[in-house]
Amino acid sequence: MLCKSTLLAGAFAVLASAQSSNNTVPATADTRVLALTDVQYANSGRDDSGNAGFGVKLNSKALLTVVLSSGQVIQNGQQYPVDQLQERPTVYVTPADNYASLFNSSSKYTLTLADASSLGDADPEGNYRHFLANGLTGAPGSGANKTFTPEAGTTITNYAAPGPLPGTGPHRYSWLLFEEPANFQAPSNLSTSGVSPSHWYVSSYVQQTGIQLVAASFFTVQNGNPTGSVASTAAVNTASLSASSASGSGSAAPSQTSGSSSPSGSSNPSSGAAQIAASLGAGFIGLAGLVALL
Ligand SMILES: *[C@@H]1O[C@H](CO)[C@@H](O)[C@H](O)[C@H]1NC(C)=O
Ligand SMILES: *[C@@H]1O[C@H](CO)[C@@H](O)[C@H](O)[C@H]1NC(C)=O
Ligand SMILES: *[C@@H]1O[C@H](CO)[C@@H](O)[C@H](O)[C@H]1NC(C)=O
Ligand SMILES: *[C@@H]1O[C@H](CO)[C@@H](O)[C@H](O)[C@H]1NC(C)=O
Repeated sequence: MLCKSTLLAGAFAVLASAQSSNNTVPATADTRVLALTDVQYANSGRDDSGNAGFGVKLNSKALLTVVLSSGQVIQNGQQYPVDQLQERPTVYVTPADNYASLFNSSSKYTLTLADASSLGDADPEGNYRHFLANGLTGAPGSGANKTFTPEAGTTITNYAAPGPLPGTGPHRYSWLLFEEPANFQAPSNLSTSGVSPSHWYVSSYVQQTGIQLVAASFFTVQNGNPTGSVASTAAVNTASLSASSASGSGSAAPSQTSGSSSPSGSSNPSSGAAQIAASLGAGFIGLAGLVALL
């Protein structure tokens, strides 16, 4: 028991070394990195239900690499300033070898960018939709590099850059990639291009459409220091629509309200090594062994 946190630190060191270059789009997906991605996602409360998270568990089958317009690759759990997020980034998918057949020429994907507010400061109106596209296609080629970009499809909600209200803590944004079932049908009010960014519940959307979460990339954005005194009905935020967003006619400015309780101020591991060890299961042992070799 006593060395779990040491092992955890070691596991994250492995993750860091597996991502030896921060700004490279990988050619293959290391299953240990996928396992750690799942733990980081869960540990940040993003899978919490109700208004506290997205209410959807992550069992990664691929790495999602999100490249900002600066060329920087988003590192899971890190905080980014809004000025680096103004343009819609490029999203790459790298399936793990053992799941590669799930990413094929007949696969279709849903991609969204959603905000789960701050850990411990649930937004009473739910998650917030900053981007949504359905029917994206793409599959790994036959070469050694298994990475592809999901493209085409229908953009329902054009990219709206993150812009949390001041003082509401580090908001937990996530790019989420889902596999669509063969009989996928979009909800009628989210079925055509140009639907404005707005509050929604990722879990309801997932239940309604039968899509399956297969990859995620996540980060935080904070606007000022947490004050814990923002009224829950307070106003429109400062998010701006990207001038360079993909085709579509969305035009309304996004607005966002926020919960009123004090954010924890901490977006990352806080719920204990035991939970992580449990989540990682056998994979954790493998990581511990690997750490011991370093
Ligand atoms: C990767 O980027 C993070 C910040 O985004 C930085 O803290 C870290 O040192 C970088 N790692 C490497 C290997 O460059
Ligand atoms: C793999 O392919 C992607 C997409 O074409 C490319 O961006 C990336 O640089 C390639 N990675 C490596 C390591 O070759
Ligand atoms: C292609 O991928 C889908 C999931 O996107 C899967 O249901 C289907 O079985 C795969 N087809 C093959 C031939 O593996
Ligand atoms: C779509 O309709 C559902 C109820 O059927 C509602 O909860 C949701 O807010 C609506 N979404 C949008 C974007 O209008």
